[in-house]
Amino acid sequence: MSSLPESAATPADRRVFFRTFGCQMNDYDTGKMRALLAKDGWTTTDDASEADLVLVNTCSIREKAVDKMHSALGEFRRMKKQGQPLTIGIAGCVAQERGDELMAKYKDIDLVFGPDHISKISSMVDAARSGERVQDTEFLDLANYAFVADVDPTAHGVSAFVTIQKGCDNKCTFCIVPQTRGDELSRLHGDIVAETRALVGRGVKEITLIGQNVNSYGLKQAGEITFAQLLYKVADVPGVERIRYTTSHPRDMGDDLIQAYRDLPQLTSHLHLPVQSGSNKILRRMKRYYTREHFMRVINALRDARPDFVLSTDIIVGFPDETEEDFEETMTLMEEAQFMASFSFKYSQRPGTPALRIKNQVPNSVAGARLTRFQNRQRERSQIYHSNLVGDVVNVMIEGPSRHDEGVICGRTGTHVMVNFPGRLAEIGKFMDVRITRGFTHSCRGERVE
Ligand code: 5AD
Ligand code: SF4
Repeated sequence: MSSLPESAATPADRRVFFRTFGCQMNDYDTGKMRALLAKDGWTTTDDASEADLVLVNTCSIREKAVDKMHSALGEFRRMKKQGQPLTIGIAGCVAQERGDELMAKYKDIDLVFGPDHISKISSMVDAARSGERVQDTEFLDLANYAFVADVDPTAHGVSAFVTIQKGCDNKCTFCIVPQTRGDELSRLHGDIVAETRALVGRGVKEITLIGQNVNSYGLKQAGEITFAQLLYKVADVPGVERIRYTTSHPRDMGDDLIQAYRDLPQLTSHLHLPVQSGSNKILRRMKRYYTREHFMRVINALRDARPDFVLSTDIIVGFPDETEEDFEETMTLMEEAQFMASFSFKYSQRPGTPALRIKNQVPNSVAGARLTRFQNRQRERSQIYHSNLVGDVVNVMIEGPSRHDEGVICGRTGTHVMVNFPGRLAEIGKFMDVRITRGFTHSCRGERVE
């Protein structure tokens, strides 16, 4: 039993504060937790000091993300020690991976649960608030797994995620996700379409289908449709103007998917396709099961289907056994593939992953220097890409206010270029023609074309 202080909050004014780390999957899961708790009367607060419940949704993809979780926990534990009647819960990938350790280390944490248990959040929170210390970090049998259908009540805007799959059956040697999210399971396509309809009913125009490896959607389940077929179903929902998806695996980009780009105008001309490295030797060590040549064939086919196609990617530098020559191949692939943008990371050793056993771990300083070199060149390339758009008239979907300037709104092209231009919030959701006037590293500036 924990020494949870009595909370004065009644069911009507219980407040939950969420802190979310990591990828879109975690953002999405936080939305689902919010939706389920709202049914019990919980409202979300942006101020942890007035919360009755804090839920930290954690990421373990790199050590840095885990460090951030520990410092956030420190902050909330301090608030509790100082007398705030707070229930603290840890969700997400670190909870799944290190549940026992977290329960043992932090005696004032009330609740630790993995991504498989989100559908039970109400009863877990109730138990924790009645004084029990709750841990639920066993993977569920796939037959018992429940996707949550409820839509986040605070979701607004024109763009929303819809999950199509949980877990991952790939075994990339650097990656901890198979340990934190378990085996792959596809969601019924009828449920995906139903959630899409519900979102469109709330004003959403852009749907991003998310999963760890979307291309393998449906393949394990007898009678389920394929990922390409799913795209056609989602495109059939009236009101869906744009469809995006993430994450894709270059090995699994089939001809049926390329054909979908020819058939479906709703599919945007931008794809985030993580390549990880330009060296075939390193790709082999990562067990990615494709070559640089295969990757180039895939993106050339996409560009054939859509001449305006734009790509972004993920890169890991300093993977074990990466020589200067291997890294050079990543640098040349960046030029050859012409990535508009990339997320690049220094390899981070993850507990229990096969890459730990590869000899020749790359010294941190060497990996750091490679990362700087890669990022500097990518920044240059991104800046050139955006500057080359100056003078073009592009069609954008207006997504929200600009992050920096009052009276400025922000839209995206179908190629995922962010354009800021003067406008009113009332215009969110509209499509508009904009002339590009300046190009920066991550965005463009524009003016509306009357
Ligand atoms: N070290 C560094 N980067 C990693 N990623 C995944 N695992 C690791 C790791 N151990 C990166 C990959 C992946 C992205 C989500 O995170 O590039 O595509
Ligand atoms: Fe997302 Fe992977 Fe991080 Fe988990 S470990 S939150 S799946 S990025």
